[in-house]
Amino acid sequence: MIAQERDAKAATIAADFPILQTKTRRGRRLVYLDSAATSQKPQCVIDALVDYYSNYNANIHRSVYEIAERATEAFEGARARIARFLNAAEPAEIVFTRNTTESINLVSYAWGQTNLKAGDAILTTQLEHHSNLVPWQLLAEKTGAELRFIPVDARGLHVLDDLDALLDGTKLVALSHASNTLGTIAPLERIVPAAHAAGALVLVDGAQSAPNMPVDVRALDVDFFAASGHKMCGPTGIGILYGKRALLEAMPPFLFGGDMIRTVSYERTTFNEIPWKFEAGTSNVADAIAFAAAVDYLEGICMQWVRDHERALMRYAFSALAELEPLGMTIYGPQDPDRVVDVISFNLGDVHPHDVASILDAEGVCIRAGHHCTMPLMEKMGWPATARASFYIYNTERDVDALMAALRKTAAIFHLG
Ligand code: ALA
Repeated sequence: MIAQERDAKAATIAADFPILQTKTRRGRRLVYLDSAATSQKPQCVIDALVDYYSNYNANIHRSVYEIAERATEAFEGARARIARFLNAAEPAEIVFTRNTTESINLVSYAWGQTNLKAGDAILTTQLEHHSNLVPWQLLAEKTGAELRFIPVDARGLHVLDDLDALLDGTKLVALSHASNTLGTIAPLERIVPAAHAAGALVLVDGAQSAPNMPVDVRALDVDFFAASGHKMCGPTGIGILYGKRALLEAMPPFLFGGDMIRTVSYERTTFNEIPWKFEAGTSNVADAIAFAAAVDYLEGICMQWVRDHERALMRYAFSALAELEPLGMTIYGPQDPDRVVDVISFNLGDVHPHDVASILDAEGVCIRAGHHCTMPLMEKMGWPATARASFYIYNTERDVDALMAALRKTAAIFHLG
C-alpha cells in the first residue's frame, strides 16, 4: 500500500474514535500520541459496553433466565474470540484478569510459589516495565531463587552473548515482547527455544506487542502470555493471561471464592476447571465483552496492516525528529522501525521532559514524560527522564507534523539551537 493510501486509511480509522473528533480546552485538534499508555476506544467498543448494560446486564454462570444466559454466552464468546486472536489452542487457555500486571502476578503466585526454590533462577531483562520486574523480585525473595537479567546495550537492544550461562538453572524466563520505553522488540525466536532447551518456561509480557503486531502464541511457543485490553482499543480493567493447558491445570488457584469452585462443604472445597479456577468472584463481564469487540475491530483492520502502518509512521517520525538534532534532539533506543513497536523516547536539549509535555499539551499534543515505569532501565542508561511519543492505528503523518511543530515551538521558548 502506498504511503498516501495508508495514511488515508488511518484517517478513516480515526473517524471511528469519538474522542479524536473532540477539541482540547484551548480549542486545539486532539493529537493523541500516548497510546502506549492507553489506546483510545472506537465507537463499536463503547457501543458494546452500552449494549450490555442497556440490554442484558446480568451475572454470568449462575442463572437460567434469558438475559443471564445471553450474558454468559457473550462473556464466554469473548473468551473464544480473544483465544482466536492470539491463536491459542482453545478458549480454556485464556484467563480473564484485570490487566497485564495481574496476569503476571497470577503466574508469580500460582506457578512461582509452587515451583521455585532456592538454587533456581528467574531470568528477565534490563528493560522491563516494573510490572514484569517487581513480582519476580518478591518471588525471588520469598523462594530464595536468584533473579538474573539479560543485559541491553546502549541502544536498548538485548545482548544474548551469555544467554546459555544465564539460562543455566533458570526455571522461568519472563520478558516483555516489546519495551514500553524504547519500543525494542525482544528476539523471542532466539530466546524461547534456548529457554525450553534449558528446561525453563517462558512468560511474555505482551502489553506493548498484542496491540501492535500479529501475535500467535503457538507459533511463538510461549508458555504464558499476558496482555491488557485497554492498550488495544478495549476498556480498562480487563486483561488476559494465556497459558498452555497443562500448565494452567497444574497450577493452584490464586484467588478464592465464588465461581472458581466445583463443590464446597463446611470442611473443604474442590476447584473448578480452567479457566474458571482462576476467575474468583463476579467477573468483569461488560469489559470482557467490549474487549472482544476491540479484538474484532482490530481483526477487521488486520494486525499486519497495523504493524505495517506503525512501521511506516515510525520511519517518518524518526527522520522528522532527526531534523531537530541541531536544536538538541536526542532519540533513545534502536532507531530501526523493524526492531521497535510504536514508541519513541527522546529529549529536547536540557528541557525537562515534563516541560516539553506541558508545552505540547498546550498545542493539543498528548505525550508521556517521566521514567515510564522502567526506573532501573533509566538509571542504567543514565537518563533521569524522557519524553515519549507513541503511535497507533489512528495516527497519521499529520500527527507527526503536529508533534514536530510543537517541538519547534518548545525549542523556541527555551532558546535552543
Ligand atoms: N505501561 C503504560 C505505559 O508505558 C502505562 O505508559
